[in-house]
Amino acid sequence: MSDPKNTFSLDGHEVPVTAGQTILQAAEASGSWIPTLCHHPEFEPHGSCRVCTVKLNGRTVSACTTPVRAGDVVELDTEELKGLRQNLVQFLFTEGNHFCPSCEQSGDCRLQAVGYALGVTGGHYNPLFPSRRVDASHPDVLLELNRCILCELCVRASAQVDKKDIFALSGRGIDKQLVVNAESGRLADTNLALSDKALSVCPVGAILKKRQGFLVPIGKRTYDERSIRERDLDRAKEDPQ
Ligand code: SF4
Ligand code: FES
Repeated sequence: MSDPKNTFSLDGHEVPVTAGQTILQAAEASGSWIPTLCHHPEFEPHGSCRVCTVKLNGRTVSACTTPVRAGDVVELDTEELKGLRQNLVQFLFTEGNHFCPSCEQSGDCRLQAVGYALGVTGGHYNPLFPSRRVDASHPDVLLELNRCILCELCVRASAQVDKKDIFALSGRGIDKQLVVNAESGRLADTNLALSDKALSVCPVGAILKKRQGFLVPIGKRTYDERSIRERDLDRAKEDPQ
């Protein structure tokens, strides 16, 4: 039995915690899945999408950024929190232009997979149908801003791993969008390379390598054969944080 001094309560179950762990890390280590979109285990947590929202001692927090301590009480799968996460995902779908059946990333997209896992069956909100750019200027990479969820993973990867600072967010509120670091504003005029980490972290289909979209058939893709829940928990087991 776990030492109660080193456990916290997760939906009423005592779960072991080690010093410095976030709620997300401790939950995953115990086999409890928390949906995430802007989180990537190789980068510092960012806390922007809020899809990982839980309650810590009665207060709403993001599980990916918030440390947990022995004795804490965390609520994860309450009806209220499930509804909140569904609303956040529905809002992301209506805020951009996401047409899953015709998207090359279908089956490999975290937003789509999280939507399925949370039981999102419709948009709920009126679609905003924003008018956003598609930048096909680069010979090998397509930038489809209609699908961007502003998670900043490409921004972080380009700055921290590639050391190029090719991507940034610009503007506020509904006008906030991803921009590239070139006077022309075109991806072709940056020093982006196919080997850049920034090309492999996009959770949706906003940054795509050209001519590769249908190499893996529908039905054989990342989340077609194993659910996002299983994949995330297996990854956490292989690479405990
Ligand atoms: Fe995130 Fe992809 Fe948008 Fe970059 S392009 S901010 S990785 S959704
Ligand atoms: Fe925690 Fe986005 S995954 S805020």
